[in-house]
Amino acid sequence: MPTAGRFITFEGIDGSGKSTQARALAESLESEGRPVLLTREPGGSPGAEEIRRLLVQGDGARWSAETEILLFTAARRDHLEKTVEPALVAGTTVISDRFADSTRVYQGAARGDLRGLVDRLHADMIGTEPHLTFIIDVEPGAALARGLARNSGEDRFEDLGLAFQTRLAHGFRALAKEFPHRCHLIDGNRSVEAIRREIAQLAREALG
Ligand code: ADP
Ligand code: TYD
Repeated sequence: MPTAGRFITFEGIDGSGKSTQARALAESLESEGRPVLLTREPGGSPGAEEIRRLLVQGDGARWSAETEILLFTAARRDHLEKTVEPALVAGTTVISDRFADSTRVYQGAARGDLRGLVDRLHADMIGTEPHLTFIIDVEPGAALARGLARNSGEDRFEDLGLAFQTRLAHGFRALAKEFPHRCHLIDGNRSVEAIRREIAQLAREALG
């Protein structure tokens, strides 16, 4: 990827506090004078936001795992082309609330043994990895309560229940071990401020 900017992603189960921490890091880097773009998946470009609505609303069994992989990958491709790559080329630090690691865990491990398919599609259609990834690791029961308390109308995945969220949490921990050079596993069972400080320090060290 021909980039001048750095690409940072936040990952974790639903309600883990990713969005809160992604916003906090964006504010912290901006206050130091860095150009920052805060974005999210699924979504982050007009076309990908349309695909998002198909994915997050409706019945939990609406799509098969295979169809989901195709929809998430289509949304990611549009997000990359229209939003992420132009910003990186312009030297902007891009912070994305979720990226390909979510597909590796949600579709590739937690719902069916489809990791091979996820990896092949990623290699052919996306081929980009973040420079730095924060995986927020929280107790699934607490995260589920936080997520459902938001009552956002986008609870298709939360509706799949605690056992599913627990499988996801294991998947994200395994992913941190698989990509140790870019992934930091962050203890999310703490105050927003304590987590924010740790992430800001790690980002500063990584960005130089
Ligand atoms: P995610 O993006 O991972 O789904 P959010 O950042 O939207 O999570 O947080 C989900 C809910 O939990 C929000 O209401 C948020 O204010 C709250 N929250 C986030 N981080 C913490 C924390 N460390 N402790 C307690 N509540 C938190
Ligand atoms: P998100 O808006 O980040 O939800 P939350 O704030 O609850 O964490 O993501 C929407 C849902 O889509 C979420 O349950 C995770 C799921 N998802 C996948 O299953 N695969 C993916 O590749 C991505 C990006 C998200």
